[in-house]
Amino acid sequence: MTYSAAGTRYDQLPIRRVGKTGLQLPVISLGLWRHFGDEAPFARSREVVLDAFDHGVFSFDLANNYGPSKGSAERTFGQIMRRDLNPYRDELVITTKAGYPAWPGPYGAFGSRKTLISSLDRSLKQMHLDYVDIFYSHRPDPNIDLQETAQALDQLVRQGKALYVGISNYDRDQTATMIQYFNDMHTPFTVNQYSYNMLNQQAQTTGLLDYLGQHGAGLVAYGPLAEGLLSQRYLDGIPDDFPIHRTNKYLFEQGTQPVVAQLNALNDIAQQRGQTLAQMALAWLLRSQTVTSVIIGTTSIDHLHANLDAAKQLDFSADEVAAITAILK
Ligand SMILES: NC(=O)c1ccc[n+]([C@@H]2O[C@H](COP(=O)([O-])OP(=O)(O)OC[C@H]3O[C@@H](n4cnc5c(N)ncnc54)[C@H](OP(=O)(O)O)[C@@H]3O)[C@@H](O)[C@H]2O)c1
Repeated sequence: MTYSAAGTRYDQLPIRRVGKTGLQLPVISLGLWRHFGDEAPFARSREVVLDAFDHGVFSFDLANNYGPSKGSAERTFGQIMRRDLNPYRDELVITTKAGYPAWPGPYGAFGSRKTLISSLDRSLKQMHLDYVDIFYSHRPDPNIDLQETAQALDQLVRQGKALYVGISNYDRDQTATMIQYFNDMHTPFTVNQYSYNMLNQQAQTTGLLDYLGQHGAGLVAYGPLAEGLLSQRYLDGIPDDFPIHRTNKYLFEQGTQPVVAQLNALNDIAQQRGQTLAQMALAWLLRSQTVTSVIIGTTSIDHLHANLDAAKQLDFSADEVAAITAILK
């Protein structure tokens, strides 16, 4: 059936601007990291993406290695573009990245000029796009001068293949180095995409968040529910094979029981606020205006709608902040 976007799509979700740049994002974006690749039923992937757009999510996050089979999430998204979303291209913020292993050999990963330039060309072909809105260096390359990565990103903007550049998984010092390079070249740097959730607040405690805000940039929070940990699902316990992200692994250093206790204490506060734990977890990250968007990953329309409702209650009372801060210590 021919898709026609809901006329109400901009009525529900707040939109934030990155500093004084022209880039604006919905406070909640959809990521296609897992379960949108070749193995996922296309009809369901399409339904989730289009439903998200109908409800104000005009920002879709990809990477050259998303799938799980590498690149297949971009192919899925490309099919949806071709079939349904092309008429809406001017409304969409489509982002992709290069840096984790995507093809064999020394150029399939990290941040060399060749890796970034060839990767974006592949991504554009797979997604049937002329340009992406943000192209990210997915992680810092420890083996090269970061200036090479910065110059390659800058070149891609000059070529019209990306409108803005982003970095991901760069800590505060690495971010400072990149911002210096970008300033020197007048590169339109906008956001650092970083692991950030209620249980893992390193983006804040290391000073990265403030630093970005002070430099007119934004933080896009990935994994805001810690792979679903911050939901009703694990209040009775966390299975041993829970797929915790590498950035959150340290949370289980004392075992999973202390985390379960924290989840239950947080859930009590969420209930008092009239929210689910997942909704409160998303709202918590959006307290700072420097957090431009949180990227959720879901394959369920029910979870998508429930998560979007988080935006209806973003305020926290001083008592709630104090109680939550005490639990997270
Ligand atoms: N830059 C990077 O290095 C990097 C790294 C990781 C992720 N990311 C980006 O961030 C996106 C999101 O990451 P993520 O998938 O880890 O995000 P997440 O939203 O923290 O976790 C997704 C998990 O939470 C579950 N979930 C979502 N809403 C729920 C709800 N209301 N109740 C119960 N469970 C719920 C999902 O299951 P269901 O499918 O059943 O809803 C899924 O298992 C990725 O797609 C990617 O775009 C970037």
